[in-house]
Amino acid sequence: MARVIALGADHGGFPLKLSMAPWLESQGYQVLDMGAHSLDPADDYPDFAAAVAQAVVSGQAERGIVICGSGVGASVVANKIPGIRASVCHDLYSARQGVEHDELNVLSLGARVVGLELAQQLIAEFLDARFTGEERHVRRLAKINAIEQNSRQG
Ligand code: RB5
Repeated sequence: MARVIALGADHGGFPLKLSMAPWLESQGYQVLDMGAHSLDPADDYPDFAAAVAQAVVSGQAERGIVICGSGVGASVVANKIPGIRASVCHDLYSARQGVEHDELNVLSLGARVVGLELAQQLIAEFLDARFTGEERHVRRLAKINAIEQNSRQG
């Protein structure tokens, strides 16, 4: 069965999202398109980044990709959803290692920063990588989860 990847972008990321969706499908993934569905210069990245993050935590999608102009705003939003570990990764090492060590589940890209080819390679690294499950990484994730729990309790 195809792996389901949630994809979302605001106007800053829209042109890249347009080409990434068919490319992901050509790589054998099923794309869950969380918008934007058309280019609207007045739209807001929190709407799409939150929708992608929710799709991942609900289990509708295995991982998520959010795209805005810089990647920064979308990653900030995605990280507000408990259970999400999102980061901007504009280098191949981080895109892979973020999953292997930190169990990154949302990749954030800046369409005004990376081109089409690099974006494809970053996504390929991110989706190909697996969490290693090494004790030190599990220990650190437990600390992240504890911080998240504590901040939710106020
Ligand atoms: C939108 O113009 C831009 O601010 C947004 O896409 C993103 O780069 C924010 O981090």
